[in-house]
Amino acid sequence: MNAGTIDSSPVKTNRVIVFDTTLRDGDQTPGAATSPRTKLRTARLLERLCVDVIEAGFPASSEQDFQAVRAIASELHGSCVCALARCVEPDIERAASALAAAARPRIHVFIATSPIHRKHKLNMKRAQVLEAAAKGVRLAAAACADVEFSAEDATRTERRFLADVVETAIESGARTINIPDTVGYSTPDETAALFLWLREHVRGADTVIFSAHCHDDLGMAVANSLAALGAGARQVECTINGIGERAGNASLEEIVMALHTRTDSYGLTTNVRTELLSRASRAVSRATGIVVAPNKAVVGQNAFAHESGIHQHGMLRHRVTYEIMRPGDVGAKSSLVLGRHSGRHALLARLRGLGVQPAAIELEQILNALKAHKGNGCLMDTELKALAARTMAECRREWTLLNAESREVPQGKFSVCVNALTDR
Ligand code: KIV
Ligand code: ZN
Repeated sequence: MNAGTIDSSPVKTNRVIVFDTTLRDGDQTPGAATSPRTKLRTARLLERLCVDVIEAGFPASSEQDFQAVRAIASELHGSCVCALARCVEPDIERAASALAAAARPRIHVFIATSPIHRKHKLNMKRAQVLEAAAKGVRLAAAACADVEFSAEDATRTERRFLADVVETAIESGARTINIPDTVGYSTPDETAALFLWLREHVRGADTVIFSAHCHDDLGMAVANSLAALGAGARQVECTINGIGERAGNASLEEIVMALHTRTDSYGLTTNVRTELLSRASRAVSRATGIVVAPNKAVVGQNAFAHESGIHQHGMLRHRVTYEIMRPGDVGAKSSLVLGRHSGRHALLARLRGLGVQPAAIELEQILNALKAHKGNGCLMDTELKALAARTMAECRREWTLLNAESREVPQGKFSVCVNALTDR
């Protein structure tokens, strides 16, 4: 098997390896599993996005997964293609076989290490887990030069035992050590402390890359991933739109843009072509049928939309008043959404953009009509044009009427006259 690998030299580097698991952990989202053909299409896009590693599937779990990994491994040459396996021989053989044609293969072996999983799931003693980890990594290393080891449920594992497992994996040939927060239980402070502790106490820690893999059960997956990177992890495992088991995985676009936007704080970079993030998000949403929430950070439909008058006024003066990222950097555009909270500045700008030039008094009437509008608060261009045309026509009729008859129309009757005209 070709041993081409990403440059994962574990020396102090500011470059974060982005390990995308949309096609493996993301595929485990209830109801989201996709066909090998669809997976191949998504993998092509992930490669264009320049993620470093694509975890393409778990070949031993199904024939579909095997076929998907094989197809992706045969076609992709830029990103490293990874296959997941338990620390058992048949799984590792299946992963190696699916990756046979890969230019840059990686086998990712895992075993659960926490007391809860050892007792209730594996029914194994600590020594048995150590033995299985050593054997799994050795078998994988014999088949593939690039081996990653994961201690499943690491964050609920006794620290000293976790260190023993990690040392065993390193001695057996693992190059990347993944410390998953499998059930999304950890906090950012705990995550940082764990990574610092492991890097200090594990023999051989400075010869491998430490990796974070966080789930979002308490909504802290991205914060925990960033905390791990701050504590020396140099690989982050994540998915497009944060899809994955239960509440999902850490969202790739949020981690990448946090690093990109806050280099002052993190001082870390990725290789990701951020301008393709919105496109990747839409593609994954279409492929899986999982809708992205409008207020989803970075890629949600409202991530760069401004509705309130005060915000719109600020945006018209200078974008930086209410935007911390350039929308184009993620392949999106700003929009000033007209609704009940909008103000005259945004309304006028939008109307002018549509070729409508209202007089000052007409603008006030259109604004009133907008605020009284009973839709969901957002007007499409065509609706706005129709609203403006109606309101301006009414204004003009009122003026005509006033000019012709104003002195004879008693106060209070004026609106009746206008309504009568409008009803015709
Ligand atoms: O969440 C987890 O622990 C995993 C491992 C298989 C890496 O997905
Ligand atoms: Zn996971």
